[in-house]
Amino acid sequence: MLLFRTPIPADWLPKILAHLPQVLVDHAHLERKAATSALNLEKFRQLHSRVHELNAIAIEELQHFELVLRLLQARGIPFDEPRPSRWIRGLMRGIRPGVQGQVIDHLIVCALIEGRSCEKFQVLAEALEPIDPPLAQFYARLVESEGNHYATYLIMARHIDLQETDRRLDWFLDLEAELTQQGHPDPILH
Ligand SMILES: [Fe+2]
Ligand SMILES: [Fe+2]
Repeated sequence: MLLFRTPIPADWLPKILAHLPQVLVDHAHLERKAATSALNLEKFRQLHSRVHELNAIAIEELQHFELVLRLLQARGIPFDEPRPSRWIRGLMRGIRPGVQGQVIDHLIVCALIEGRSCEKFQVLAEALEPIDPPLAQFYARLVESEGNHYATYLIMARHIDLQETDRRLDWFLDLEAELTQQGHPDPILH
């Protein structure tokens, strides 16, 4: 189902597993930003008919945020400032100004972030199973939800303009592959 053109870099998983407390803090911010992104999409006229669907995604992401915060609390990990992601920043820089193009670009970027989260949570769930079963189950439970968000955002973009979405998706998938291959040294999910 996922369209990515490059695999997750080989050094990603060992780096994540070696820094789980920092990763969980980063994950909390990722869910917070996902809720904010869903709400921000509601300003576009082309998505006004989708406002309830977008609210539902925002509520779900806020629930995920709460779940991660509770996990932090249970594990005695203090909530901290977010770390910047070059990958997310790079994708955001690809968004063109201009209303119609902008809404489609925003939806594609949101879809790609959700898609990579879905993929990475699946990898994490499998890798954590033998070393931290409760955390493995936690990630396994999020996979379907993030996968649905990925699909929903792409469907919303295609509903606005099918050809333009596929044209821009092709462009963004190349950008995404380039950014993923660049990698970064920080223990963050994206
Ligand atoms: Fe989420
Ligand atoms: Fe999501």
